[in-house]
Amino acid sequence: MSWKQSQHLKMEFVKPPDRSNRAAWLEGPSGRCTPQPGVVRRLRLILLGAPGVGKGTQADLLRKHLGACHLSTGDVFRAAAHSICEPSPAMAAALDLMRRGELVPDSTVWEMVRERRQCLHCAGGFILDGFPRTLMQAESLKKLMADENIGLDAVINYELPRAEIVERLSGRRTCEQCKAVYHITRQPSRDQAVCDRCGGQLLQRDDDCPESVKVRLETYERSTAPLIQFYRDLRVLLPVAATGSPEEIFARTAASLEANLHG
Ligand code: AP5
Repeated sequence: MSWKQSQHLKMEFVKPPDRSNRAAWLEGPSGRCTPQPGVVRRLRLILLGAPGVGKGTQADLLRKHLGACHLSTGDVFRAAAHSICEPSPAMAAALDLMRRGELVPDSTVWEMVRERRQCLHCAGGFILDGFPRTLMQAESLKKLMADENIGLDAVINYELPRAEIVERLSGRRTCEQCKAVYHITRQPSRDQAVCDRCGGQLLQRDDDCPESVKVRLETYERSTAPLIQFYRDLRVLLPVAATGSPEEIFARTAASLEANLHG
C-alpha cells in the first residue's frame, strides 16, 4: 500500500462531537476509547514544525473537524509526569530531559509508540504531533506502518519566524486536566486561570521557561528539521505558513489537503 493510498477519496470535513477521546494513547494498551461516530473521511497525518509553531492548536482543530485522534508524544510524557504511579527509571530520566528542553532518547520514545501501535489503526484516522522527531524515529515509523499495512496521507510542515515562536511559547497556558492549549493574550480563556472546556486549572509548562525554549529550538534545528527533506523525498510534504490566527492557519491547512489529496 502506498504512502498516499487514499488520494482518490473525496476530502470531507465533518463536525464530530467535540470531545477528546484518546484513552488508549494517553494510558497505553489498557486504555479503552469510545468509538467516534460521524467519521466519513479518515485521514492519517503527521504535523511537523518547530516547538511552539502551533502544532497542538492545529491538531485540535483538525480533530474537531475530521474526528481523527490527536496522538501527541509530549502529552503522553506529561500525563506520566502527573500520574499518581511512580515513574519507571526510563520515564523519570525522560521527564528530566524534557524539562530541560532536550529530546527523550529514541529507544524510550519508540517503545512507547510501539506499545500504542493500535492507535495507528484508529477508525477515525490520526494526527501525529511531536512524533517522529528524529530520522531514526521517522524510519522506524515508516517500517511499522508498512508492516501494519497503514498508509500516510500527508505530512504538514508549519513554518513560522523564530521571534513569533518565542512569543507564542512564553504566553502559553495548558489545562492540567484535558490538555487544552491557550495563550494569555492571543487565545485567552474566559477566566485567565480556568479551562473553558473542562474547568481544569491552567498552568505554564516547565519547558516554556526561556532557557528550555532556547535548547528546544536548537534541538529542533539539529534533529527534527532534517525530517522536512525526508518527507519531501517521500512526496507527502505539504508546507503551510503558520502566520495569522489559528482559524486562518486551519483554513490554509484544509485547502492544502483538499488540493493535494484530490490529486
Ligand atoms: P511536545 O509536547 O511535542 O512539544 P513541542 O514540539 O515542543 O511543541 P509544543 O507543544 O511546545 O508547541 P506546538 O507547536 O504544539 O504549539 P501550541 O499549539 O501549543 O514535546 C515536549 C517535549 O517532550 C520535547 O521537548 C521532548 O523533550 C519530549 N518529546 C516529545 N516527543 C518526543 C519525541 N518524539 N522524541 C523525543 N522527545 C520527545 O501553540 C503554542 C502557543 O501559541 C499556545 O499558547 C497557543 O495558544 C499559541 N498559538 C497557537 N497558534 C497560534 C496562532 N495562530 N496565533 C497566536 N497564538 C497561537
